[in-house]
Amino acid sequence: MNKAKILLAIETSCDETAAAVLEMGGKNVLPKTLSSVVKSQIKLHSKMGGVVPEAAARAHVKYIRPVVEKALLSANYKLSSVNYLAVTQGPGLLPSLMVGVEFAKALAFAAKKPIIPVNHMLGHLYSPFNQSNSKSKILNLKSVFPMVSLIVSGGHTMLVLMENIKDYRVLGQTVDDAAGEAFDKVAKMLKLPYPGGPEVSKLAAKGNPRAIEFPRPMLHSKDYNFSFSGLKTAVLYFLQSNLKSEILNLKSDVCAGFQAAVIDVLVTKTMRAVKQFGAKSVSLSGGVAANTELRKTLSDNCKLKSINFFVPPVKLCTDNAEMIGLAAAFMLKNGKKPVAYQKIEANPNLTL
Ligand code: KG4
Ligand code: ZN
Repeated sequence: MNKAKILLAIETSCDETAAAVLEMGGKNVLPKTLSSVVKSQIKLHSKMGGVVPEAAARAHVKYIRPVVEKALLSANYKLSSVNYLAVTQGPGLLPSLMVGVEFAKALAFAAKKPIIPVNHMLGHLYSPFNQSNSKSKILNLKSVFPMVSLIVSGGHTMLVLMENIKDYRVLGQTVDDAAGEAFDKVAKMLKLPYPGGPEVSKLAAKGNPRAIEFPRPMLHSKDYNFSFSGLKTAVLYFLQSNLKSEILNLKSDVCAGFQAAVIDVLVTKTMRAVKQFGAKSVSLSGGVAANTELRKTLSDNCKLKSINFFVPPVKLCTDNAEMIGLAAAFMLKNGKKPVAYQKIEANPNLTL
């Protein structure tokens, strides 16, 4: 009997130091997560109101070894028994990426392990494809494709068409700010703590989404691109012209109106792609996929069309190493070969 192949994945693209151990699974078996450790730097960066790249890199240097050790220990594996290493190569913040990449390369050299460099966005894309009893994850690869995948994070907003588990193409992406970035910037305007997404969505739950009508940029454009910079500016102008009024009471309505505009554009374009490509499923991933209202609206739309909807649990939406391991597992299953560690460089602008 073949022994299960074990993968150790490392992620440091932004402000989370993360490591995970996964069992790859055979040809038609989904990978299984054995451990996943995330050390968040939220406390550090909230003092500055956003991620400071050099501070993030210093924190990664401090935490990377204990985080990797903890992931191995919780999975009950020694580095010597791991079959593959996987590491986020990009996109992300260069100083942050370099810590993970150089650490993984040192492990590959010292322990003589093959290493797979992984695109962070591929991690988000494959994040629903793991073994679990939860309905929100894909348990069976049959009859889920074609799938339209909406990836919404702090740095990216993209629609991807997955023809099968191997072949995908980007249908469109943001031409300016990412959805998560817009959430963070609106939060800053409202003097809410970093990271802004969860704060805006908490306040939005108390507000009236129809009280203030914000624009829906590119809602009717014929392509699958997005733009959130104008929406952010509309919020800024609204706040400036209402400064003298009771702005505090307005905060929740501003959040609700802004969130409704973002969700309207994201969901409308996703469902349009579903129709055009005859998709059998929709998946939602990336940090903004933690947003309760977005999860619910997209799920309701999929129900109406009687198609599958997959969204990972919240802890797998924001950055983690489990998703990097999942992407690496599928890269290997799909025939990708490991890369010599000397040839791997962090790439902050890596594209999908
Ligand atoms: O995927 P992620 O952890 O990091 C990147 O790859 O960028 O996404 C982080 C983004 C941040 O902009 C954060 O504000 C946003 O995800 N976010 C949310 C929520 N939770 C996190 N946005 C809206 N609603 C949320 N509940
Ligand atoms: Zn991410």
